[in-house]
Amino acid sequence: MVNTSAISAHEVDFFYGDFQALKKINLDLEERRISAFIGPSGCGKSTFLRLLNRMNDAVAGARMSGRVLVKGRSIYDRNADPVEVRRKVGMVFQKPNPFPKSIYENICYGPRLVGIKKSADLDSIVEKALRSAALWEEVKDALNKSALALSGGQQQRLCIARSLALSPDVLLMDEPTSALDPIATAKIEEWIKEAARELTVVIVTHNMQQAARVSDATAFFYLGELVEFGPTKELFTNPVNKRTENYITGRFG
Ligand SMILES: Nc1ncnc2c1ncn2[C@@H]1O[C@H](COP(=O)(O)OP(=O)(O)OP(=O)(O)O)[C@@H](O)[C@H]1O
Ligand SMILES: [Mg+2]
Repeated sequence: MVNTSAISAHEVDFFYGDFQALKKINLDLEERRISAFIGPSGCGKSTFLRLLNRMNDAVAGARMSGRVLVKGRSIYDRNADPVEVRRKVGMVFQKPNPFPKSIYENICYGPRLVGIKKSADLDSIVEKALRSAALWEEVKDALNKSALALSGGQQQRLCIARSLALSPDVLLMDEPTSALDPIATAKIEEWIKEAARELTVVIVTHNMQQAARVSDATAFFYLGELVEFGPTKELFTNPVNKRTENYITGRFG
């Protein structure tokens, strides 16, 4: 049996104008695993994450080379559809960004865009997504309430639910808990571990304890390079590269 990676990057270079933000990145992420991206500020973590669902397409003056495959399909081929790519590879950002609409409408937004109209179908998508994001019990009696009236942690779980409503294969999370308190953070971490039964998760984090707590594999980026990638326990206890060791022991970053 061929074991297809959820995400596979080959020789990826990325430039903002003249500035090279990513250098020859090669990385394979296994399906239904949680991977953490760590590294000091400005080393290219978010740039790389955004490449995985074509979120950098709109950046003026930027260019990339190399290949990115999602489940074996090249997402930068001429005939690859960016909208379809983003359906399969969802994204959650640092700051929760719900639409100024009801909880219900936030989750229906994507499904409606792809043509799902029947209210019974939408109702069940909303319930399933909210349950999956561990928010259902808190909001089931207030689905028409504005999403902006939720707490920060609830808003972030709503954004997760919104991504899940399109049944993605991969969820990319860029510092998803950095704006949240420890309790809300713990809930999201719990959720991530549960979610990996069905989903491939990539989380960018500055918090090394978080990377150690939630991830199966960790990638250390430094100055646009992928320095080291391996099982989280090994990378944190026995790093191969001196730069990884310096970073995880707090000598820089
Ligand atoms: N839109 C842009 N235009 C020009 N340069 C950019 C742009 N976005 C990022 N960069 C530069 O690319 C490099 C990588 O940035 P990126 O945001 O990927 O880093 P990061 O590792 O996510 O950092 P942080 O941990 O602070 O979020 C940085 O030097 C940054 O200044
Ligand atoms: Mg970033």
